[in-house]
Amino acid sequence: LMSVKEFAKALMSTAAVVPQSYICRDQETDLGLSDCSTNTLAAVIPTIDMEKLVFGEPTDCYDLELQKLHSSCKDWGVFQIVNHGVSSSLLNKLKQEMEEFFNLPMEEKTKYKVRPGDSEGYGTVIRSKDQKLDWGDRFYMLINPIQRREPHLFPKLPSSLRNTLESYFSELQELAMTLVGLMGKCLNIDKREIEELFVDGMQSMRMACYPPCPQPELVVGVTPHSDASGITILHQVNGVEGLQIKKDGVWMPVNFLPDALVVNVGDIMEILSNGAYKSIEHRVTVNTEKERISIAMFFNPKFEAEIGPVKSLLNTNSPPLFGRIGMEEYVKGFFSRYLNGKSNVDKMK
Ligand code: SIN
Ligand code: FE2
Repeated sequence: LMSVKEFAKALMSTAAVVPQSYICRDQETDLGLSDCSTNTLAAVIPTIDMEKLVFGEPTDCYDLELQKLHSSCKDWGVFQIVNHGVSSSLLNKLKQEMEEFFNLPMEEKTKYKVRPGDSEGYGTVIRSKDQKLDWGDRFYMLINPIQRREPHLFPKLPSSLRNTLESYFSELQELAMTLVGLMGKCLNIDKREIEELFVDGMQSMRMACYPPCPQPELVVGVTPHSDASGITILHQVNGVEGLQIKKDGVWMPVNFLPDALVVNVGDIMEILSNGAYKSIEHRVTVNTEKERISIAMFFNPKFEAEIGPVKSLLNTNSPPLFGRIGMEEYVKGFFSRYLNGKSNVDKMK
């Protein structure tokens, strides 16, 4: 089945039940995959004002905001950014283009279908036989380096979507470089080390569409995982909530802030920082009424880089807590495994 969107529509109109292959949660206890309960209160995740960090020369205001960024990465692994400089007109255009894309007829979307053995394209990637399926459609693809883009994906997208995405990517690239630079500064990492890792980095994106579901408490839009990335910048395109984080062992919905972008600390950042920053485990829930649309961009070191605790952080008092692996090999690894909790970062210990 390539698209949950069309399937969900048929299911909703016949009031049918969700097939077993999508059922991963227990209605009574929510003990399925999550192994803990859900708090009904929204987690108010920290908000970082980028204006204070980008335009403010080191002032009290700057120092305070930098401190807040540091504690958000250590204690939460997730925060939202405001005054990030990405215009609301570009975000509105993106919303319109993405809605149009997901509403294309199946025959059109099938052109981008994930090919056997590949991880890029439209649809579900099946990694194991008894894998529970996510209640959502995803379109994952590599953006940079450009020469690694798959010829049948990005270049073949409708041109208006492609142009909008290109503008969005270039704005986000700048933002991401600023963010990793600031994180490096907070961690006292040599600036050159950050640049060596992230300049000409591997970047990818994932557009997702989560249709309404007749029994939302039985399924997940995205299985619990932490991102394998350095950092992820997520835009909740149409303002529909559903993102949840696991904070102190409890699932909590993330509050939605219009025009804000959500930043996740990924596994690579946890490893580079030698565990000072923690990647955040998260999942997506769905509902009976509203379709949810999101776009996540993943910012990573370049393929030639080595992933491991940054050398300038290591000494006899702080030995490395993770092993080292080439980025190329690391990427191969995370696509071959079925995402589950923080298994990706645990594997590097
Ligand atoms: C994800 O983190 O994999 C998806 C997040 C989202 O769609 O909100
Ligand atoms: Fe994620």
